[in-house]
Amino acid sequence: MKFFLDTADVSEIREGVAMGLVDGVTTNPSLVAKTGRPFRKVIEEICGLVPGPVSAETVSEDAAGMLAEARELAAIAPQVTVKIPMTLEGLKATKACTQAGIKTNVTLVFQPLQGLLAAKAGATFVSPFVGRLDDVGTPGMDMVADLKEMLDNYGYPTEIIVASIRHTIHVHQAAMLGAHICTVPLKILRGLVQHPLTDSGIRKFLEDSKKIPKG
Ligand code: E4P
Repeated sequence: MKFFLDTADVSEIREGVAMGLVDGVTTNPSLVAKTGRPFRKVIEEICGLVPGPVSAETVSEDAAGMLAEARELAAIAPQVTVKIPMTLEGLKATKACTQAGIKTNVTLVFQPLQGLLAAKAGATFVSPFVGRLDDVGTPGMDMVADLKEMLDNYGYPTEIIVASIRHTIHVHQAAMLGAHICTVPLKILRGLVQHPLTDSGIRKFLEDSKKIPKG
């Protein structure tokens, strides 16, 4: 399974990359706004830190505008993946990007058929948002299970990025379903490494190691 960091904070990205677990980065306008920095500068800097795919989101509402943005974003660095919202205009733009050789990540997917349409449009990645569905009382991971089965049924190469991840159980469930990628905040990436029994086990072994006679 690949892990992407879901952040636009370059210090978090540096830390994640140093952990050796980061295969790419996803951003969205809200995450970039939180940094207080200009959008293009942030994306350029992230691309300098991460060799894998870096998602940068379009904000136009029509296909022509999305495609124009996509061309500009894709010119920043080869690993830029243009994030396009799941609308009819977004699907048109995705198809045009695919034809132009621009990598895409269709975002804001909340039901499996939306994901199927993104794959049909040639999306490189599709991002089902599990946490936001859970928030409104609909099990987000059911969407991922159905979408994975649909894409497998037709052999689409589109990779599923499980997004809007709120806790490590989401990552566990995504891995059991064979989703290709989880995009996670740094806090969750750290949480995947840790277990209190590992920590107490290490402490006990270190203490006991001191009791071993030298020689
Ligand atoms: C990633 O592509 C999404 O933008 C992100 O995971 C959304 O997460 P949120 O629901 O916590 O905002």
